[in-house]
Amino acid sequence: MSTPALLSPLQIGPLTARNRLWLPPMCMYSAQEHDGVATDWHVLHYGTRAVGGFGTVIVEATAVTPEGRLSEFDLGLWDDAQIEGHRRIVAAIHDGGALAGVQLGHGGRKAGTPPWRPDAAGARAGTLQGWDLVAPSAIAYPSEGHAVPRELDEAGIARLVEAFAQAARRAAAAGYDLIEIHGAHGYLLHEFLSPLSNTRSDAFGGDESGRRRFPLQVVAAVRHAIDDAGSSAGTIDGAEAGAPRALGIRLSATDWAEGGLTGQDTARFAVELAAAGVDAIHVSTGGNVPGTVPVGPGYQVPYAAQARAALAASVADGGPGAGVIVVAVGVIDSAAQAEAILTAGDADAIAAGRPALRDPYLPVRWAHELGVNDWREAGLPVQYWRGAWR
Ligand code: FNR
Repeated sequence: MSTPALLSPLQIGPLTARNRLWLPPMCMYSAQEHDGVATDWHVLHYGTRAVGGFGTVIVEATAVTPEGRLSEFDLGLWDDAQIEGHRRIVAAIHDGGALAGVQLGHGGRKAGTPPWRPDAAGARAGTLQGWDLVAPSAIAYPSEGHAVPRELDEAGIARLVEAFAQAARRAAAAGYDLIEIHGAHGYLLHEFLSPLSNTRSDAFGGDESGRRRFPLQVVAAVRHAIDDAGSSAGTIDGAEAGAPRALGIRLSATDWAEGGLTGQDTARFAVELAAAGVDAIHVSTGGNVPGTVPVGPGYQVPYAAQARAALAASVADGGPGAGVIVVAVGVIDSAAQAEAILTAGDADAIAAGRPALRDPYLPVRWAHELGVNDWREAGLPVQYWRGAWR
């Protein structure tokens, strides 16, 4: 039997993951309150999913500034004191045999909302009191209880570009293999990209190229920071320097709204991102304005396919995009479905989030469902080889 596509190795820039399954970033709202420092929960949660067979584990949205947090319980990388906790998470993920990634983000006008946890008072009920919200334009997220953000000036934009670069430097120091920039779900980068939230008339707004300026500056600064960390000799704060690292970005391909971003806009942007040095494009949708989203099995996959086709067309024309991978996500919850997406050529990798909250061994189970019973091929750790199927 040939190896299922899902279990074949995945090249991400300079790195190789053991298979094509990603754990997508999912906020745990379990950092130490106020200081954004990781706790044992993170080590346990991410380490378990690595042991469970994921090839790539992306740690949740991690804030590049305190005001960029989505809640007081978010992880951060705005301070060197936060590196040590991430180092422990990375060690646990590596022990489980997976590549370790972290999503760096800023919540923009959607920062400072109570955690989406049923045990949190006022879960998902608007902006927390006193939060200093910043955004491309002074337009509140159009839903009850959300405060009007301050419009960023050019100095504020430059400070945030630098904050992303510094957070990326710390992520490299913590040993992460992959840095994923959060450009989706109505947070700061997405707010710049979308005409629904960016009505600026300066160089950072207006047409497509103006709206892309800040996100592309962030991409360039983060690429530079991680390449710099990779080329410096010795160690950075005790972590291995000189290690090659990959750069990813998560996008909301469509705003699912009249006048908003479309799959075509995003497919074109994917090519521009490839030229800017991005190795992986993780295709989600929505989050910038409320509305009806046709959620169902694989509902975002056509957007991943569209971006992948644009990259392939660019390469065929001698343009950028060679080696850039596309990750599909969203209600992909069976092995057969995941395998079919890969064999159809709609994506290079599959992220499965909520199914992995129910079952940390999802990849091992999916391997078995695809007919792989050998413990090594299925991704069972050596310690568990006796648990293999007979
Ligand atoms: C998420 N999601 C998410 N997305 C993101 O880009 N950064 C994040 O930190 C989070 N946080 C988060 C927390 C929780 C509890 C859930 C359930 C989801 C979205 C997530 O990565 C994924 O895109 C969606 O869950 C859809 O994929 P699944 O769950 O259908 O496989």
